Amino acid sequence: MVLWGPVLGGLLVVVVGCLCLPALLRHRRPQEPPLDKGFVPWLGHAMAFRKNMFEFLKGMRAKHGDVFTVQLGGQYFTFLMDPLSFGPILKDTQKTLDFIKYAQELVLKVFGYQAMDGDHHMIHSASTKHLMGQGLEDLNTTMLDSLSLVMLGPKGPSPDASSWHEDGLFCFCYSVLFKAGFLGLFGYTKDRAQDLQEAEALFAKFRRFDLLFPRFVYSLLGPREWVEVSQLQHLFHQRLSVEQNLEKDGISSWLGCMLQSLREQGTDSSMQDKFNFMMLWASQGNTGPTCFWALLFLLKHQDAMKAVKEEATRVLGEARLEDKKSFAFTLSALKCTPVLDSVMEETLRLGATPTLLRVVQKDFVLKMASGQEYQIRRGDKVALFPYLSVHMDPDIHPEPKTFKYNRFLNPDGTRKVDFYKSGKKIHHYNMPWGSGVSICPGRFFALSEMKIFILLMVMYYDFELVDPHMPVPPIDPRRWGFGTSQPSHEVRFRYRLKPMQ
Ligand code: HEM
Repeated sequence: MVLWGPVLGGLLVVVVGCLCLPALLRHRRPQEPPLDKGFVPWLGHAMAFRKNMFEFLKGMRAKHGDVFTVQLGGQYFTFLMDPLSFGPILKDTQKTLDFIKYAQELVLKVFGYQAMDGDHHMIHSASTKHLMGQGLEDLNTTMLDSLSLVMLGPKGPSPDASSWHEDGLFCFCYSVLFKAGFLGLFGYTKDRAQDLQEAEALFAKFRRFDLLFPRFVYSLLGPREWVEVSQLQHLFHQRLSVEQNLEKDGISSWLGCMLQSLREQGTDSSMQDKFNFMMLWASQGNTGPTCFWALLFLLKHQDAMKAVKEEATRVLGEARLEDKKSFAFTLSALKCTPVLDSVMEETLRLGATPTLLRVVQKDFVLKMASGQEYQIRRGDKVALFPYLSVHMDPDIHPEPKTFKYNRFLNPDGTRKVDFYKSGKKIHHYNMPWGSGVSICPGRFFALSEMKIFILLMVMYYDFELVDPHMPVPPIDPRRWGFGTSQPSHEVRFRYRLKPMQ
């Protein structure tokens, strides 16, 4: 027994040595970007990165410039901060950079979903068919019905709907968008009231998973939280199971088409349940938080609110309830809202903070717009963090921290697409949806549903901040890099349905 101590100690030394050795041996080679391994063996800068990715990367850029390699948990990430040089990374035609294998590992860990090689293509082609063009027009009708159901209730507004109600703005937006999006995409049963209750209960679980999500991805959960996460995963697999879906009407063509492809390729039903969980996450994790930021900015900038309301009245006319149960809303008006489009682009510029990651498949030379060249090693990861390198660049977006509702409008009221860096026209001036192979396939649908919600709010509701002087809350630093950011605290507001004849 006494011998076990030294044996285990020896084993530990060997394991730690094996983990740290490659890091100790790694040195910057000629023509490689500056290498910053940090002081902690193997972990490198992982703790500072996970604590506040934005501040960490800002510090690294100040120290090393526009390209640098950092060690994070035994892996090497090369961050590229010059958006004029993004082209070769995003339009990689040589298949030097891979997104799919990396994504497959992530979805296996987070959703339990074992992806197949054709999945990425299948998801994007189903989305092109059903979340864009004519498919999107059909889905918009469904989303309007879902939003009416969630906001007005199954029997239409209750007698007290025109009295003031107080709530947290973040929770309100997230909950409404989640319930409407979930019902619109995953379908209804015959009992609308029960569907609403089920969606409400599912949102509570979704929110719990959402709160644990960043630390789960970084493997930082405590033992109890691990248990909780696996219970939540199990619950979602059950609640979203294909068996339960069979009893539903109106499952969206988008989801139906993808599930059919999975069946055709022989994916078993338990794996399809996991696929549904992954799609629930992708479709519902960002729209609610984005609408929170949009409504908050409108409330804090009355000139923007006035411009959006004027545009809404111009394209949609006066607010009116149909059969006292649903909102009158001409969906074609969504194509004629340049002011609201600019508000959404500006909100996403300030609120969306995705990280774009690619795994390097073979050694390659990164050619910068300046002409400088860097050697990048096979096995490393190349990362873009556009929030810092694009959205917050004062050269591209003057006063980048300020919300300017007309930033994306030309003086003649058309959409502004001309932005410059160092005097050169820049293609990637706002990247909330990612870009290249991993661009969000739901972006057109997301914009439509968020715009319908915002328009319904400004037309049909009175709403105001409980404390109009309260500053906009800072972004929760633990969520940098994970899609749309969330506020570090809730904002109280009150709302009521405008009294109507
Ligand atoms: C404000 C709302 C949204 C934002 C900001 C957003 C953003 C993003 C981003 C940045 C990615 C790429 C992630 C990466 O590079 O790893 C992504 C992927 C994805 N998004 Fe969205 N998204 C939104 C809403 C939606 C909606 C409503 C849907 C579907 C109905 C959707 C479906 C997807 C899917 C399926 C993927 C994975 C695509 C793949 O595997 O390549 N998203 N989204």
